[in-house]
Amino acid sequence: MPVKDLLIVDDDPIVCESLKEMLTIEGYSADAVFDGNEALAKLRESHYQLVVSDIQMPGLNGIELLKELKGRAPDTTIIFITGHGHIDGAVEAIKFGAYDYITKPIDDMRLKLTIKRALEQKSLLASYQSLKQRLKPWALLEDRLIFADRKMDKLLELVHAIADTMATVLITGESGTGKSMLAHYIHNHSYRRDGPFVKISCGSLSESLLESELFGHMRGSFTGAIRDKKGKFEEASGGTIFLDDINCASPTLQIKLLRVLQEKVIERVGGNVPIKVDVRIITATNTSLLEEVQKQQFREDLYYRINVVSLTIPPLRERLSDIAPLIDHFTQVFNQVHQKQIKGISKSALQLCLKYSWPGNVRELENVMERAVILSPGDFIVPESLPPQLHEAEAAPPPLTTRNLSLDEALAQAERQILLETLENCNWNRQRCAHNLGISRTTLFNKMRRFNLVDPRRQTAVTSKQ
Ligand SMILES: Nc1ncnc2c1ncn2[C@@H]1O[C@H](COP(=O)(O)OP(=O)(O)OP(=O)(O)O)[C@@H](O)[C@H]1O
Ligand SMILES: [Mg+2]
Repeated sequence: MPVKDLLIVDDDPIVCESLKEMLTIEGYSADAVFDGNEALAKLRESHYQLVVSDIQMPGLNGIELLKELKGRAPDTTIIFITGHGHIDGAVEAIKFGAYDYITKPIDDMRLKLTIKRALEQKSLLASYQSLKQRLKPWALLEDRLIFADRKMDKLLELVHAIADTMATVLITGESGTGKSMLAHYIHNHSYRRDGPFVKISCGSLSESLLESELFGHMRGSFTGAIRDKKGKFEEASGGTIFLDDINCASPTLQIKLLRVLQEKVIERVGGNVPIKVDVRIITATNTSLLEEVQKQQFREDLYYRINVVSLTIPPLRERLSDIAPLIDHFTQVFNQVHQKQIKGISKSALQLCLKYSWPGNVRELENVMERAVILSPGDFIVPESLPPQLHEAEAAPPPLTTRNLSLDEALAQAERQILLETLENCNWNRQRCAHNLGISRTTLFNKMRRFNLVDPRRQTAVTSKQ
């Protein structure tokens, strides 16, 4: 497939052609098309380093194009062009993985600079890619659970109390909070640690394929079943099976799982001989399973069977004291992976990290840190090394999310946010902050303790231990 520099997508032919002309003069190989569907056709013919696209277009719009691109050409970077009135959409696009956005009317210099920067970063990232693969960063990351927040202490206490038992565990938490990692950790701290740890997501396959993956099948039980096959439950014998996204289990699968839990036997698809299995079951979900039970989408009897021990990992924005140690950890890991010597993070960059709402939780922090370690020219990670979404957050504080919260919890969240903002405005001077809020210093102190509000300057120094 031919490789080209740029694909320009805009439904305004004048914008399209003038951009193509300008960027061709700059020395880039560029194609231009008028809508998202044409862009997809082009992407089938050539590989593009970068797509510069309008957001609002008839047919397939920019965001839909971005989503398609993620599946087809994940290496292609996308920069959006957006009208002044639609910056919200562009910010949203950045959360979905767009590189940056430019507002209309287009400032040619700014566009050229953004394209140049994006392409430079791409080649930098690409040259590290092979090294990264050789070093297997995931092996480095595995099983080093970093936590400092009081909420996590409590959770880990419970984890250690139940790890070395047969108890079935349900882990709940938003995406990227570390559920899979915790499941592995539990296995590694149990007497089954020398046995296999087998992971499968209940949302990853069609219903029938998933059943045959889990329980195995007999030869001839369906087209394509050319030999008998062991399922994941048999593979996990003597160890642990981790059923991720358990909320996606179909009604039939739920019945079969109930049987495994009650009788400790499975049957292969197309077979009728019960096979005894000796596995510990850990499940995870990023939705509230209880809510699914109430909506009758998840069997109540199964819910009680899998929810013997319930572990909820709070989102990263609710455990701010974990942020600095995690940054420290990821800095060390990615220093090693990318052969860099970043010593730590500057105070202002740390502030940005503490203010951001981390919708993608620890996974997002990990990605942000990898990028920052690679792109930081100096010894320290500075605000400029952090991606746009962290800077956006500074301009607009995240809205309070009150979904699934009781009134008390929602009020507590609002109170915490007010305290945090006032403390920051007062540069963490408690006397001033208490005065501004019209409360006593002792009350303020007690509230800070209750909400785990810590002056970032007094947190663990974020410097490399090397
Ligand atoms: N406490 C932690 N210490 C170190 N790394 C962590 C921690 N929590 C999460 N991570 C890292 O963050 C990333 C996301 O974690 P993980 O895959 O376990 O999240 P998850 O909750 O299972 O996400 P999903 O809902 O998408 O399945 C992983 O790369 C993991 O190594
Ligand atoms: Mg997971």
